[in-house]
Amino acid sequence: MKSVHEIIAGSGEEYISGGLNEKDIPADPLDLFEKWLEEAVKRKTGLPNAMHLSTAGADGRPSGRIVLLKEFDKRGFVFYTNLDSRKGVELKENNHAALTFFWNELFRQVRLEGRVFELPSGESDSYFAIRPHDSKISALASEQSRILKNRETLENRVRELENKLKDKIIERPANWGGYYLSPSYIEFWQGRTHRLHDRIVYRRDDIKGKWNIMRLYP
Ligand SMILES: Cc1cc2nc3c(=O)[nH]c(=O)nc-3n(C[C@H](O)[C@H](O)[C@H](O)COP(=O)(O)O)c2cc1C
Repeated sequence: MKSVHEIIAGSGEEYISGGLNEKDIPADPLDLFEKWLEEAVKRKTGLPNAMHLSTAGADGRPSGRIVLLKEFDKRGFVFYTNLDSRKGVELKENNHAALTFFWNELFRQVRLEGRVFELPSGESDSYFAIRPHDSKISALASEQSRILKNRETLENRVRELENKLKDKIIERPANWGGYYLSPSYIEFWQGRTHRLHDRIVYRRDDIKGKWNIMRLYP
């Protein structure tokens, strides 16, 4: 078995020093998230808005996948997907979920936990409307997470839809839309030397509550 440590060793990667100090952080975690996202964009990390979404349905078994963050505000962190997908089904059964960002070049991680809600349909309509024509066709053609007999079936379906909907306005399918995760826990993790990393947590007891800030052992 090949050790991952050996593969990575010698890549010359050095941890970012410079830490996360209580005296420098804002009272609102969204301000810190925005700053870190901007820094990830400036640092040209690959897909800075890619995040891991963890869900677990009624059986309590977790599943994970990457989705893209499209917006964030006081309400929550927004992503779009097929509402009948595996994640959609699991979120219907249990709307507790987690999001994790990792920006390798900055040696940073952000972890969020909270409840997930569907975006109002008007907002999903507006977002769907500005998507490219081909992406709309793909959203219509894909029964995300269902078993697909073969690739040809999907490609035929796309071709049929393209012919049928050429020059037509494509409405958002009812099973495609946005979710937002409303966080009650946001942890900012800054990697530091000798594994003495900084972990600053913002936690609140209810959606309208004030954020409490604490530091965790690395
Ligand atoms: C970089 C990246 C970005 C992705 N963005 C999305 C996204 O925004 N929405 C989405 O539904 N799937 C996205 N996917 C695909 C998902 O990871 C996943 O395969 C799909 O949503 C089905 O997941 P599920 O079967 O657990 O529901 C992305 C995958 C990658 C690798």
